[in-house]
Amino acid sequence: MIVALGGFLLGFDSAVISGAVPFIKSYFLLNEIQLGWSVSCLILGAMLGNSVAGPLSDRYGRKNVLIVTSLLFAVSAVSSALATQFGFFIVARIVGGIGVGGAILIAPIYIAEMAPAEKRGQLVSFNQLNIVLGISAAYFSNYFLLEIGDNNWRWMLGVEAIPAIIYFSALFIVPRSPRWLYSHGNKLQARIILEKIGGAAYAKTCLAEIQESFDKQTTKASLNQVFKRKYGFILLIGLTIAFFQQITGINAVMYYAPTIFEQAGGGTKAAFMQAVVVGLTNLVFTLIAINLIDRLGRKSLLMVGAAGMTVALSVLGFSFNKPIEDINTVIVLISVLFYVASFAISFGPVMWVLLSEIFPNMIRGFAISIVGFFNSLVSFSVTLVFPWELTHVGPSGTFFIFGGMAFLGLLFAMFLVPETKGKSLEQIEKELIRK
Ligand code: BGC
Repeated sequence: MIVALGGFLLGFDSAVISGAVPFIKSYFLLNEIQLGWSVSCLILGAMLGNSVAGPLSDRYGRKNVLIVTSLLFAVSAVSSALATQFGFFIVARIVGGIGVGGAILIAPIYIAEMAPAEKRGQLVSFNQLNIVLGISAAYFSNYFLLEIGDNNWRWMLGVEAIPAIIYFSALFIVPRSPRWLYSHGNKLQARIILEKIGGAAYAKTCLAEIQESFDKQTTKASLNQVFKRKYGFILLIGLTIAFFQQITGINAVMYYAPTIFEQAGGGTKAAFMQAVVVGLTNLVFTLIAINLIDRLGRKSLLMVGAAGMTVALSVLGFSFNKPIEDINTVIVLISVLFYVASFAISFGPVMWVLLSEIFPNMIRGFAISIVGFFNSLVSFSVTLVFPWELTHVGPSGTFFIFGGMAFLGLLFAMFLVPETKGKSLEQIEKELIRK
C-alpha cells in the first residue's frame, strides 16, 4: 500500500493542472501555445523520468528511486505553487513530471518483485487503482479549492506536498526488493525479506529460482542486453502492449471527456458532471479487475476488455456519424462509460502487471525504461493529435480509428499475449526466453 501511493501521487500530479489552467492563464497572461505547454510539459518530464528510472533503480535500488520521486513530487508541488514567473513554473512542473515518469515504472516492478506469485496481479494492480484515485482526488480537491480566493491555483498545486511528504516518510519503512538485493550480492538480506513475506520454505524455493535466473547470466546488465535475440519475443510483447494501451485513445477520453460530451450536444455543465461519472466508472471497474486478475488471468481480462472497447468505440463512431441535432447523447454517454469500463478491466491494470512480470531479472530495469518511454510517447502523440483529429477527421472517423485499433489489440491479446497468472517471475522468465 505504501509503494502504491506513488500511483496516487502521479495520478494527482497529472490531473491537478486541469483545474489550475484558467487561473494560471490570467495570472501569467498566457497565449494558447504557452497554455498548451503549461499542461504538456509534464509529459516531457515524465519521458525523461521514464528513460532514467529503470537503470537507476538497477544501480541504486527500487526503493531509493521511489524516495527520490517522492521528493520530486514535494519540490514540484511547493515550487509550482510559489511561482511568480512562467519559466520557473514550467521547470517546477517538469520536475514533477520526472517524478511521474519514475514512479509509474518503478512502483509496479518493486511490487512485482515483492509479491508472492498467486497475489502478484492483484498487488500490482493496486498501483493502477491508486492512479485512478489520484486523478479523482485532484478533481475533487480542485473543486473544493476553487473559491478560496485569488491564490486558489497555488493551493490546488501546493496541497500535493502533503501526500508527497507522507510518501517520502513511509517509504523508509518498506524493505528493499529481494530480487534487487540478490543481484547486488546481498543474499542474506534477500532471504530475510522473503521469509517475512512467505516463511522459510517459501524463501528457500524463491531464492533457488532467483539464483538460477542470475547464474545463467555471464555479463552485466546493459542496454545492449535488452536487444539480444533471446529476449526478442519478450520485448515485442512489451512494446506491443504499451502501444495498444494508448493507441485506443484512453487519454484522449480522460483529458477531453467534457469536449466529447459537448460535441454530442449535451451542454457544458452536463458535460462536466458526465466527466465525473467517467472517473467513477474507471474506479469501480479497476476494483473489479483487481478482484479477477489472479483468478481469470491477464489474458482473459485483456480479451474481454479489448472486445468491449471495440464494440463501444464502433457504437461511438456510428453515433457521431449524423448531424449534431440527431446525435443521441444518452447512447454517447453509455458508450463512453462502457469504453472506460472495458479499459479499466483490461489494458489499464493488465499492462502494468504484464510489464512488471515479463522481463527477466537481469534486464528488467533497462527494459521497463524503454517500454515505459514508448508508452508515454504514444500517449503524448494521441493526446496531441486528438483535437486536430476531431476537427479534420471528425468525431465519427476518430472513434472508428480507435475502434479498429482496439480490434487489433483483441487479436494481439488472443494470439500473442502469454498467460503469467500464478507463476513465479523466474518461471515466466524461463518460458518466455524459450519462445
Ligand atoms: C495509463 C494512463 C491512463 C490511466 C487511466 C493508466 O494505466 O497508463 O495513461 O491515464 O491508466 O486510468
